[in-house]
Amino acid sequence: MMPQPPKLSTLYSPAVIANRVAAMGLEIRALYPPDSDANPTRITLIGVLKGSYVFLADLARAIPGPVEIEFLGVSSYNGTESSGNVRITHDLRADIAGRHCLLVEDIADTGLTLDYLRRALEVRGPASLRVAAFLDKPSRRIVPVQLDFIGFSIPDHFVVGYGLDYDQLYRNLPEVAILGKA
Ligand code: IMP
Repeated sequence: MMPQPPKLSTLYSPAVIANRVAAMGLEIRALYPPDSDANPTRITLIGVLKGSYVFLADLARAIPGPVEIEFLGVSSYNGTESSGNVRITHDLRADIAGRHCLLVEDIADTGLTLDYLRRALEVRGPASLRVAAFLDKPSRRIVPVQLDFIGFSIPDHFVVGYGLDYDQLYRNLPEVAILGKA
């Protein structure tokens, strides 16, 4: 018998995603008031590679005003399970001391990655550090993490697309789909 390809069922279409991300961009800017000279605040978006690259690209364009882009690479996952052993594989190039940083993550699952990253970045002295997660799976949490902006809260499904992978595949799907369901 030929192996069956995994089944994908759409959870969020590209249009639904675009609407939500556009709204998030405005929500985010609204929480960064201008400085005392009425200059708009520069926000340093820190995308967590690889999963956040699609969300980061759309979110950056949805936030009005000055935004700069940084990337952090982490590894912790094998297949569909978090190893809980988070490692920075690609560090920031910029010094974030004194900057208003927004960590941009594809999904908060166990929370181990975000908890680790928040601690690793806090010690570098940012002026502020907030977190935007495109997806949140609260039922899977092992460590509590504060998510300042959430795209969608979802039940415990393994999802792919819009940057999220299964063994490095499906990141290029323009929708978010549940893997393994007809
Ligand atoms: P956490 O450390 O368990 O919160 O996991 C965070 C990382 O696990 C995310 O940045 C994703 O890369 C990956 N991840 C968690 N759930 C999923 C999923 O449903 N699909 C694809 N990747 C996931």
